[in-house]
This record gives sequence, C-alpha cells and structure tokens, in this order.
Amino acid sequence: MTKQRLAFFGWIATATIVLLYVPMAAEYMFRFFGGGPRLWDHTYASVVGDQHALGAGSIHAVEDGNYTEQRWVMLVHTVVASIAIALSIFQISRRSRRRIAVHRWTGRVQVGLVLVAMAGSMTFLTAVGPENTFDGPAFHLQLWALALGVSLGTVFGVLAIRAGHTSTHRIFMVYAFALLCTAPMLRVGYLLFGVAWRGSSQEVTNLAGAAVLAVFAPMAAILASRRVPAPRKRGHLAELPGPRLERLSAGLGGLGAAALVVGYLDFFDGLDRITLTALIANLLGLALVTFNRRAAAEEVAVEEWRIHQITMMLAAPMTGLLWLAYSVPFTVEQAFYAALLTGPATTLSVGLVLVAWRRRRPARPTAVPAQPPAAATI
Ligand code: HEM
Repeated sequence: MTKQRLAFFGWIATATIVLLYVPMAAEYMFRFFGGGPRLWDHTYASVVGDQHALGAGSIHAVEDGNYTEQRWVMLVHTVVASIAIALSIFQISRRSRRRIAVHRWTGRVQVGLVLVAMAGSMTFLTAVGPENTFDGPAFHLQLWALALGVSLGTVFGVLAIRAGHTSTHRIFMVYAFALLCTAPMLRVGYLLFGVAWRGSSQEVTNLAGAAVLAVFAPMAAILASRRVPAPRKRGHLAELPGPRLERLSAGLGGLGAAALVVGYLDFFDGLDRITLTALIANLLGLALVTFNRRAAAEEVAVEEWRIHQITMMLAAPMTGLLWLAYSVPFTVEQAFYAALLTGPATTLSVGLVLVAWRRRRPARPTAVPAQPPAAATI
C-alpha cells in the first residue's frame, strides 16, 4: 500500500472514531443533571460487561463523587471539547482550507473552544488533586501534560499563521488535534484492553492505554506532519549538529534504558501489564522512526526523521529523569507510571516543535528607507 493510501485510511479511521465518540462525550455529564441516554456507558458495558465498565474500579464508580461535585466544570469540558474536536476534523480537511474565509472564522471559534475546554480540565485537575484523579498521580500528570500541550500547540499555531508561517501553523494545529484525539483513542483502548484482559479493572486498562498514547499521540502528529509541504527556501536555517549527536543520543538512550531496567527490578516484582504495554509501544515507536529515517531520501525528510529518531532514543533517559523527579512528591511506584506516561511524549513533542520551528519561512526583507540623492559637491 502506498504512503498516500495509508495516510488516507488513517485519516478516515481517525475521523470516524472521533465523530462516533463526539455525541457520547457531549452527553456524558447529563446523568448528573437528571438524565441523558448514557451512550458511552451502554456501549462500553455491552462490549466489556457491566462489572468492568460500571462496577468497582471503573471511572463510573470511582469518579462519581468528583463528577457530582464538579458537574458544571465537567459539563463545560465535555460539551465544549466535543464541539472543538468535531470542528478540528473540518479545519484539517482539504475542503475547509480551500475556502479560506470559512477556515479563518471556524478556526477562531475552534481556538476559543479548545482553550475553554482545556481551562475546564485544568480547573477539574486543580480541584481534585493528584490523589483523587482517576488512577492517581500518573494519570493526573499526563492529563496536565495533555492540557498544556493542546493549549500551547493551539496558541503557537495561531501565532505562526499570524506571522505567515503556514507550514509551522499546520504542524502545530495537527499536534493539538492529535493530543485532543487521545480522548476518543483512550476509549478505543478501554474497549480493546477490556476485551483482551477479561477480569482486569479499568484502572489497569486506563494506564495501559495512556502508556500507548504517550508514544503514539505525538507519533500520529509526526506522521501527519509528513503530509504538510515544507517551504522551499531553507538557506536561513542553521545547520544541525553532525553524526556525533546520534552517537550521543544512542549512548544516552542505552544508559537510560539500562537504568530503567535496574530501577524497575529493584522496586517491582515481575513485569506488569502496564509496563509491558509501555515497553512494546516504545519499541514500536523506535522501529517506526528508524525505518522512516532509513527510507527517507529527500533532504527535508532526512533531517526531520533524524530529529524524530534522536528524540525517540532520548525517551528512555527522559523517563528515568522524570521518575526521579516525580519520586520527590509521590511514591516510587506512582512516580514510575507517571514517568512512563509522560517521558516519551515529552521528547517526541520537543522534536516536533523543533521541526515546526524549522519549517518557518525566511524573514521578509525589511524595507530600506529611500536614500536622499547624494548632495552635489561644490
Ligand atoms: C486532550 C486534552 C484533554 C484533557 C487534558 C482532558 C481532561 C479531562 C479530565 C481531567 C477529565 C476528568 C478525569 C478524571 O475523571 O479524573 C476528563 C474527563 C472527560 N473528558 Fe476530557 N480531556 C481532554 C480532551 C477531551 C476531549 C477532546 C473530549 C471529547 C471529545 C473529552 C471528553 C471527556 C469526557 C466525556 C470525560 C468524562 C468521562 C470519562 O472520564 O470517561 N475530553 N477529561
């Protein structure tokens, strides 16, 4: 299958999942206001069973008190985020970009909605704190990272287009969209892991799904960025450091991975499902960037896949450093899962920001004020 076809099917599958999830998310909080069809609860329970979807250990049961207390905040978050993500589908489609006035106005509305939705999620996270978020500090920190990533990606996207950097704008907007898509994609993970791991709780399927998304949400944005044409002029860009950088990142990657293994063996008994899932996701991510780096032929592709390969190799040391840092306020176990859920996303996001920055157009030459004619010599 050609890359274009793969990209097309990937886009159709993503758009379908998002648009199927939107009505379920939009009415999710209605039950705290006395009604609603409870579309997600019924769908989820019909696939994985009532106990797993709605019983002890499920979001439904664990978060009931928090959602009741924060029902207005969560109503704003769920309704507004649903409209925002649906509008993103339209904004990213080629049809919208062909009608630039419509694209501009829809974009302004969408940006406002995204910021309101993320403000809602940050309000909820601040109100309940790390221990009372579903799955505790690990998921709490990932949700903060997501809220900040979506907000900053959107704001940078706006700043980029105001400065005329179309390619940079498109990459930031696709990045924000990929992070928004973690909401529906996590629910797909609940269904798949819920069926595959009968008997496990949603606390486990949630963290396993979140560990996959820590790699594949930014990776989806990276893959989508390959469809965004780069500006032809590149003379204004500084050269990136040479092959030494790869050797250094590979060395740090190896050291980081070894430190994680030693630390894990020290604090945990046996390999749990969440860590195994994270390990597989990271190895697949590394294989994907390495394959694409090798297959890249054209100058921009070679440079950009090189950046993504380096940042993927740095995921392990970053996870180790975050594990250490999170161990200060949280227990070593909580800190470990939090690091799995944020480490790879951090380095991959930094790489994509660098790529977006290097897609900027050269500065426009500043107008030189007209010189008065040279005074005639006497
Ligand atoms: C990517 C950025 C997003 C962040 C940071 C975020 C944040 C949050 C937070 C903090 C919660 C409460 C979690 C808890 O119970 O502890 C939540 C729940 C929820 N969010 Fe989001 N959200 C995001 C995107 C979205 C999108 C795009 C939608 C809709 C399409 C959505 C729909 C929901 C729904 C329906 C719930 C409640 C149901 C459940 O917990 O399963 N969120 N979100």
